[in-house]
Amino acid sequence: MTDPLAPYLHEPVRFAYWISNLSGGQVVSKVEQRTNWDFDYNVQLARAAEKAGFDFALSATRFVGGYRADGQHEASTFAMSLLNATERLNVIVAIMTGFWHPAVVAKLGATADHISKGRWHLNIVSGWFKHEFDVLGAPWLEHDERYRRSTEFIKVLKGAWTQDDFSFHGDYYNIDNWHLNPKPSFKPHPLIFQGGSSTAARRMAAENSDWYFTNGGSVDELRTQAQQVKTGAAGFGRQLRVGANAFIIARETEAEARGVHAEILAKADPAAVAGFAEAVKQAGQATGDGIGNWAKSTAADLVQPNDGFKTNLIGTPEQVARRIVELKHNGIDLVLAGFLHFQEEVEYFGARVVPLVREFEAETARRRAVTA
Ligand SMILES: Cc1cc2nc3c(=O)[nH]c(=O)nc-3n(C[C@H](O)[C@H](O)[C@H](O)COP(=O)(O)O)c2cc1C
Repeated sequence: MTDPLAPYLHEPVRFAYWISNLSGGQVVSKVEQRTNWDFDYNVQLARAAEKAGFDFALSATRFVGGYRADGQHEASTFAMSLLNATERLNVIVAIMTGFWHPAVVAKLGATADHISKGRWHLNIVSGWFKHEFDVLGAPWLEHDERYRRSTEFIKVLKGAWTQDDFSFHGDYYNIDNWHLNPKPSFKPHPLIFQGGSSTAARRMAAENSDWYFTNGGSVDELRTQAQQVKTGAAGFGRQLRVGANAFIIARETEAEARGVHAEILAKADPAAVAGFAEAVKQAGQATGDGIGNWAKSTAADLVQPNDGFKTNLIGTPEQVARRIVELKHNGIDLVLAGFLHFQEEVEYFGARVVPLVREFEAETARRRAVTA
């Protein structure tokens, strides 16, 4: 059998960062964070990030506080506004399928694509935070049904974006002879990312999405997922790329980087972490096979809400860069980065880590050419 990871290995690893549109940063800890969530800060961050070599900026959707993030800027408006402040950066807008109609998103996305000249993309999220749905009085579907709805949502988006008179009749959405005009300029359509790693998420990705986003994990855990979803996509004659979350702590010495991680954990907010642990039972743990995000996360893992410590990008610039290249060899096409002090660390990452990643990638390419 051919290696499902092989078709992607020659591509450079891409970088995305989390837009800081939620209060409280990327760790559930009382550690000092020189990160803000206002718009002006995010404009500076986006400009620094595109200069540093980031291709994508991802927003998070959240309507209510709870265990953390008591303040939230709306994911779509906030991310789109960053497009006007940047030149090359692509945004990935988080869309919670239970709160939107796909025709509205198709229309909104086509317009944002024209305004930004093809730099608008989206992340389909299917939901795990039941409290948010309860507060808003939105129906809460059981785990796999959420994915069935999201699958229809994606089919409507793709149909509207690529067909002239599009009809769709499903369990959740009905569209009759809809002619969306203008179509997006990015072909065949804006990139469809999705978040989640349950069996239902993997199936949806293999058949429908362009990118599969997953929580942080060990190289082995991530490789297993990448092999599975890329094999699944190949079965549909498609390509599927994989992005993994990581909380990056790059410092001049490994001891310093490990010290920062230890301080984040020592100052973690136990009540907030416990609340989060309770809420995420609706994700991976709610599935029949127990596979999915946070299914096996410890309290220390949950201090970073998307298991970003597990990816272990903690160390010197050289250690972090080698590890990123190792992830790429194991099927991870994109690293989604969170930082403690966003602006300054994005700049440091661009100056110290990205050039090493490119150097190590070139070395690997030369070795591959010699052995080919
Ligand atoms: C990179 C990434 C980004 C996500 N962004 C959001 C978000 O903005 N809002 C949200 O409620 N859930 C978000 N999720 C959660 C997923 O949509 C999904 O509900 C969760 O991962 C559980 O899915 P699973 O049971 O398939 O693993 C994100 C997940 C990942 C991996």
